[in-house]
Amino acid sequence: MTHALFTPITLRSLEIRNRIWVPPMCQYSVDTLDGVPAPWHLMHYGSLARGGAGAIIVEATGVVPEGRISPTDLGLWNDAQRDALAPIVDLAHSQGAAMGIQLAHAGRKASTHPEWGTEGSGSLTPEEGGWETVGPSETPFPGLAAPRALDAAGIDVVVRAFVASARRAVEAGFDLIELHGAHGYLLHEFLSPLSNHREDEYGGSLENRSRLLLEIVDAVRAEIGDGMPLLVRLSGTDWLEDGLRVDEVGQVGAWLKEHGVDLLDISSGGNQSPAPIPVGPGYQVPLATAVRAASGLPTGAVGMIDEPFQAEQIVATGLADVVLVGREMLRDPNFPLRAAHAVRYDAAPIPPQYARAHR
Ligand code: FNR
Repeated sequence: MTHALFTPITLRSLEIRNRIWVPPMCQYSVDTLDGVPAPWHLMHYGSLARGGAGAIIVEATGVVPEGRISPTDLGLWNDAQRDALAPIVDLAHSQGAAMGIQLAHAGRKASTHPEWGTEGSGSLTPEEGGWETVGPSETPFPGLAAPRALDAAGIDVVVRAFVASARRAVEAGFDLIELHGAHGYLLHEFLSPLSNHREDEYGGSLENRSRLLLEIVDAVRAEIGDGMPLLVRLSGTDWLEDGLRVDEVGQVGAWLKEHGVDLLDISSGGNQSPAPIPVGPGYQVPLATAVRAASGLPTGAVGMIDEPFQAEQIVATGLADVVLVGREMLRDPNFPLRAAHAVRYDAAPIPPQYARAHR
């Protein structure tokens, strides 16, 4: 029986105990709408760490207030937010998990009603606490308010905000950083021809559409130093004829490798609605495999990977290097311990307090 899931993986100076990771999942749970985590976050991330995950990537965290999806998102644009994240990182470390954080700018999909907790959906009005959104162009996401197109000065502010948040992530003790380049948020909006209609050096060719992402990667790498892994989440395709294609994403991945990115977390879609997405077990795995081959980078596969043997097979057969298990980890934060039992891996990270239950 293979134990591919439980073979540690080393990215730069970080060794991660296994290959079952938790993808970023917004909790929409800040207490006072100031981007600062609440007790919920301590419990949530602590329980995921105790359940045996190798790495946990904290939910999309705004690098600027206007970069939040909703007012209930986490932020990392000030030191109070950093200082409140640090104990969450410490708790996860005490349970042996590596901690990452997804730094994000929601672009034209910012300023929306959170998934739950308030009345309504779609864009927030100013009366509801909404704000003006920004994007590569003025084209709105279907059903949302139109953004303002970023000018050169606005782009510079975004780059510097990612760098400042990355510095705070290091200070808070995070082990790795993931840049959110998927799901129709700002960096994906630049990459995709569906949302980027610019005529300057940030629009047009794939190289130009990738420029903002690569500038941020370079600037963040310069800030965090050589030891820390830097990941990028990409949508492997827009699932639409005129959208971003997987071969283009493979090329972007190859450039990201040249710029010092260590692993690509391959999701899909999110930049246009509706889109014909063939949702089903492991439906995004082929995208991770294709981008892995084209870029030469390790990849993470995500999306309806819910079963231990399914996860083991993905890693053991080289379809991806790690799996990210989202909703199944919400249903059962002990999924990694369950998977260890399924593949007969007897050195799973069972907390000593619970050891008798596993004898
Ligand atoms: C998500 N997802 C997500 N993705 C992301 O890149 N940043 C985020 O903050 C969030 N937030 C989020 C919240 C919740 C409640 C869910 C369920 C999902 C997408 C998530 O990371 C993952 O890609 C999908 O859930 C698909 O994987 P599973 O759940 O099928 O394993």
